[in-house]
Amino acid sequence: MKILVTGGAGYIGSHTCVELLKDNYDVVVLDNFSNSCQEALNRIQRLANKKLSFYKADLLESPSVRQVFKDHKIDAVIHFAGLKAVGESTCIPLKYYHNNLTGTFNLLSIMGEFNVKTLVFSSSATVYGDPSTLPITETFPLSATNPYGRTKLMIEEILQDLHTSDKDWNIALLRYFNPVGAHESGELGEDPQGLPNNLMPYISQVAVGRLPRLSVFGADYDTPDGTGVRDYIHVTDLALGHIRTLPKLAEKPGVVIYNLGTGNGFSVLEMINGFEKASGQKIAYQVTDRRPGDIAACFADASKAKRELNWEAGKSLDDMCKDTWNWQKKNPIGYRTQPKEE
Ligand code: NAD
Ligand code: WQD
Repeated sequence: MKILVTGGAGYIGSHTCVELLKDNYDVVVLDNFSNSCQEALNRIQRLANKKLSFYKADLLESPSVRQVFKDHKIDAVIHFAGLKAVGESTCIPLKYYHNNLTGTFNLLSIMGEFNVKTLVFSSSATVYGDPSTLPITETFPLSATNPYGRTKLMIEEILQDLHTSDKDWNIALLRYFNPVGAHESGELGEDPQGLPNNLMPYISQVAVGRLPRLSVFGADYDTPDGTGVRDYIHVTDLALGHIRTLPKLAEKPGVVIYNLGTGNGFSVLEMINGFEKASGQKIAYQVTDRRPGDIAACFADASKAKRELNWEAGKSLDDMCKDTWNWQKKNPIGYRTQPKEE
């Protein structure tokens, strides 16, 4: 089976490509490297000891996307490509709407042209907004509080409409909770450009000495220790969730929706402690004001994915912290530690 992975050079995409290759799928990656680089692709192939096909192409440019489908008989698409920084999306919303929505429209139209109608879409727990109870099941009400989240919500709705109009489409909406960690080899990991937006890369850059201290955004939430609680999931578990989704889509189920989380919530202070234990490094931090738009707590009911995909997250908080630290230590400035091979 041949899978097109859009955004396959990125954080979650790269880990998924390794697992796909290990599972004997043929992999074609399309990425414009707007938030990634060639070195990640080199490492994927080294880790899996297999080759993938690669197109440096932008989803906004239909002819180059069409070329991929002309060159390869694609069976299914895993669609990771998109811009993902919540804060940035509030400053440059049009860029987010254009990239994420138009990119997806182009992809879907070209998939239709080539009669490729099997899609796994990277959605996010952000579509649940501020949930009134926990844990969150897939049937909870949906809302968005920022342009990034709105692109996810809109694409989910567009994909539902597409299936309503043409029942040949089989689509999985995978709602990720908080992806963290790195490949256990330390060869692949999250490589944010500039100041990290997310907690885990921030902590690991403090640990490695790139940043002086972490700001803990609020310690007055209605949570056990006052800091925000999230469902952190190891990126390899997340990658495996995509692999388990492919046979599900082969059953032609129409649109299916799954939470990919662990079902456990950890606070910011628990994450700091976990990381200190796993790394042996002290994490300097100070409590500051709440970050606007943050919610107190968010964690998944992940039982539907267990029941229907036979998937559940297997890695612990210690694994998430150890693997992040291993990646950060081996690659203190990310993929740029390796000479660029373009
Ligand atoms: P990432 O930025 O590491 O990967 C996205 C990849 O898509 C990058 O390699 C980038 O170069 C590429 N890309 C972006 N726009 C493109 C375009 N127009 N054409 C071609 N390539 C393009 O992000 P990630 O963390 O791996 O996230 C993957 C997907 O999962 C995204 O859709 C993101 O919104 C979603 N998601 C991420 C998280 C998270 O916290 N990381 C949580 C929930 C959902
Ligand atoms: C986690 C916790 C912060 C940074 C975001 C997106 C969401 C999804 C995943 C894409 C919160 C606290 C953070 C820091 C801190 N992405 N924190 N200091 O906000 O749950 O989710 O990434 O779909 O859409 O919103 O993740 O890692 O930013 O924050 O105290 O420097 O850590 O307040 O409680 P978040 P995060």
